[in-house]
Amino acid sequence: MTLKRRDTNRETKMKRLLTTAIGAVGLLAMSSAAQADAAAGQAAFEANGCLDCHYTEGPAREKTIEDQLAKTGPELWYAGDKFVQDWLTAWLTVPAPIRPMKFNSLTEENPGDHPALSADDAASVSDYLMSLTSGVVESGTVKVKKNAKGRVIFSKKMPCSGCHQYTGRKGEPLGGNSGPSLAEAGKRLNPDWILAYLKQPETFKPVKMMPVFVGLLSDKDMANVASYVAYFGTK
Ligand code: HEC
Ligand code: HEC
Repeated sequence: MTLKRRDTNRETKMKRLLTTAIGAVGLLAMSSAAQADAAAGQAAFEANGCLDCHYTEGPAREKTIEDQLAKTGPELWYAGDKFVQDWLTAWLTVPAPIRPMKFNSLTEENPGDHPALSADDAASVSDYLMSLTSGVVESGTVKVKKNAKGRVIFSKKMPCSGCHQYTGRKGEPLGGNSGPSLAEAGKRLNPDWILAYLKQPETFKPVKMMPVFVGLLSDKDMANVASYVAYFGTK
């Protein structure tokens, strides 16, 4: 009897060990599949000439206005912090204008001529770009909602709406043209990144085309306005 019990004990132990081992192998296979996609994505990124206009290694390189003006596209080294992956994958196949004006210009309209990728390349490039992170964005800091305090900050207390497009209560387009459109911000941007960007703009955009709100807005109000902005386009 005792022997038998020990045998079944050993059997359960073996079974447990085996399932753990299989689980571990499964996880390994999954993570190397994601890595393979990111590696294929990096190759596709390079092969498609994306590096001509975008840099992908941090930290931020721009030190002067001249550095900023020499750039022909936005930096992507923290793309994984900034974007919502589903939006990114779709946008890469149909890259509709984000900035109403041409990049780095206040007078010329965005020509809307961004290169597009095939669906296959877009999927792997999106995996690659989502693997690029700054390491400073905390997740779960911003609760997305129709934040009333955030609305007052965005459209009254602070000049945000003077530079950014957004959508009014009746669906009407509102706001200014000099910054990227925020009308679809909720589909496009990670709410936690919006807050991190407001709190430490020097990490992401050391040369500022946008005013710095550190000292003007409390951390709490930055979270309120991030919450409000991240609600745009979600309902
Ligand atoms: C000739 C320069 C140029 C090339 C080449 C180029 N881009 Fe861009 N990219 C831009 C500009 C300019 C924008 C801003 C577009 C807008 O605001 O509508 C942009 C925006 C983006 C964005 C959104 C970034 C943001 O912060 O708004 C992503 C992602 C992106 N490009 C990926 C790519 C990929 C992938 C490729 C290669 C297939 C590529 N780009 C090739 C100039 C370029
Ligand atoms: C004077 C114009 C101006 C004002 C005022 C302004 N912004 Fe911006 N904003 C910009 C520009 C330009 C960018 C593009 C980044 C850059 O080049 O600095 C930007 C970028 C952003 C982004 C990132 C968008 C993206 O797709 O890259 C967010 C989010 C944002 N602003 C939110 C705000 C909020 C919230 C306020 C108010 C508290 C605000 N902005 C006030 C001009 C402005």
